[in-house]
Amino acid sequence: MMEKINSLSAYFKEYENSIEDPENFWSEIAKTFQWQKTWDNTFSWNFNGPDVKWFENAKLNITENIFERNLHTHSEKTAIIWEPNDPNEKSIHISYKELFEKTCQFSNALEANGIKKGDRIIIYMPMIPEAAIAMLASARIGAVHSVVFAGFSSSALADRINDCQAKMVLTSDGNYRGAKNIEVKAVVDEALEKTNTVGKVIVCKRTGSKVQMKTGRDLWWHDVIKNQSLQHKAASLDSEDLLFILYTSGSTGKPKGVVHTTAGYMVYAQYSFLNVFQYEHDDIYWCTADIGWITGHSYIIYGPLLTGATTIMFEGVPTYPHPGRFWEIVDKYKVNQFYTAPTAIRALQAKGLEPILPYKLDSLKVIGSVGEPINEEAWHWYHDNIGKGNCPLVDTWWQTETGGIMISPLAGITPNKPAHASLPLPGVQPVILDAEGNELKGNNVEGNLCIKFPWPSMIRTTYGDHKRCKDTYFSTYPGTYFTGDGVKRDHDGYLRILGRVDDVMNVSGHRLGTAEVENAINEHSGVIESAVVGYPHEIKGQGIYAYVICSINDQAESDLIKEIIATVSKIIGPIAKPDKVQIVSGLPKTRSGKIMRRILRKVASKDFSNLGDTSTLLNPDVVEEIIEGANI
Ligand code: PRX
Repeated sequence: MMEKINSLSAYFKEYENSIEDPENFWSEIAKTFQWQKTWDNTFSWNFNGPDVKWFENAKLNITENIFERNLHTHSEKTAIIWEPNDPNEKSIHISYKELFEKTCQFSNALEANGIKKGDRIIIYMPMIPEAAIAMLASARIGAVHSVVFAGFSSSALADRINDCQAKMVLTSDGNYRGAKNIEVKAVVDEALEKTNTVGKVIVCKRTGSKVQMKTGRDLWWHDVIKNQSLQHKAASLDSEDLLFILYTSGSTGKPKGVVHTTAGYMVYAQYSFLNVFQYEHDDIYWCTADIGWITGHSYIIYGPLLTGATTIMFEGVPTYPHPGRFWEIVDKYKVNQFYTAPTAIRALQAKGLEPILPYKLDSLKVIGSVGEPINEEAWHWYHDNIGKGNCPLVDTWWQTETGGIMISPLAGITPNKPAHASLPLPGVQPVILDAEGNELKGNNVEGNLCIKFPWPSMIRTTYGDHKRCKDTYFSTYPGTYFTGDGVKRDHDGYLRILGRVDDVMNVSGHRLGTAEVENAINEHSGVIESAVVGYPHEIKGQGIYAYVICSINDQAESDLIKEIIATVSKIIGPIAKPDKVQIVSGLPKTRSGKIMRRILRKVASKDFSNLGDTSTLLNPDVVEEIIEGANI
């Protein structure tokens, strides 16, 4: 059994061990897992490749570590509590034994439908238990899942299917989200018109919406599992075999497929879950993320299930049918650990204290935050009103690429400091670099956050384009992994994440590239050029501000803006819709033609001080025009 760190001195000792002898440190942790064959070498690495391998030449299956490893101790324990969107619908409790059987059954169904080890499967499903079963069955047979958030548009879905050459799509008829019933299958149908690799689509019935089933391609979930055995022998995978691909936005081009492999991801998912949340055997744990994001992968599914935890999967949204919905669920299941995003906290904070009053919230032991910097006001509101002033708040910093939590307090162990992710987990070696790549040692320094040593769950490559992985993460500061975030180490040595230093926005905890949104805007036939920046937004953290040059002038500006917003929604999805659009006659550019985003960011943030010397611009007049017409 994996031991938890149980005191601050034990944390410092474990941290020191992990730096002094990482081989021994990680191999001791890895020994608590079930291996079909153990490793020859704990890890090897070269950040110039990059070429990183963990637990080399070992054989395993992550689902054996969720099921077979633990069944003798908790087969009847609830693995997943599923809470529906509509509180009047019945919730579902699935024990480890049942989840194991359903995983095996669906593994057999996938194989019966031609899926083999290494094949890519797209999961485009709502937050229903079948989505978890789909991920686990994919892992069990050695296929590679790529979950696509079910709010992405058909064209975003098609891009992902094409990029990973997926053979199968798993989906549902519809998706209940708040008051909406989204026609999920119809989105898949549209996406598949632009792809040619998908042979089969398996559709899970959720809403009963009428769907078109294409003969020979589309099958019902309930039909494919009929007559399939509840037993399945797990595939034997190499440590470095792909477990999943998850697409995420960067500062250039289309989203890239972040690749995670089997053994390292598994070891780190459980280690980080257990220690950050200090999970105890009978605790009820709830992470409100969607499985379409890395948080859902590592801290709804893999981390908790590897630990033998009871994990809640919530289908709905925080404010439906009322703004106390989260707190109702916390009381209903006596949730002990609650993990959500600052954007949800701020949205609920804006509703005032009244929605919280009917609830006790006295089961909570730990509250957590993830996805974006949490401002001090939201931190205190969350700590005081939800944690009642006596729950440790874990502000967890990490990324799709890191696979697991990297910098965070350990609940109840690391002293809390508002808005500080605080200290690295054992095994994680962050460094702060200045623009030239010099390490800023000591306290009271601010710079670019990099990691100088490998950790088990780190990104291995970007699918199908290894050079892109190198260029994005390992070239800015050679020899280190560059996170894209700014960070400050304060006078106590605690780390505070300052947000992205590249052209990536963080909107309601969703990561979006400015270039990605610009490309979508430019799809509108009346658009000549656009520039997108993030600006501070009270609820979303960052909002999207688009400056657009149009060729059309015979249409009302408000209609044009509506169309531009609708175009972005169609190309990417509603999460990428610009909050503000300003039609401009030009964009401030340097003499070499580069857009001066700094100026655009300042205007969007209502900060007109210190715009810098604009006289060297190609078109200084446009700055005046932009300021005058600013939509702020
Ligand atoms: O900017 C950081 C921010 O979210 C980015 C990673 O986004 P994504 O890959 O979508 O993963 C989100 C969930 C892990 C980071 O580069 N971020 C994440 N957590 C925090 C954060 N910023 C500040 N504080 C955090 N706790």
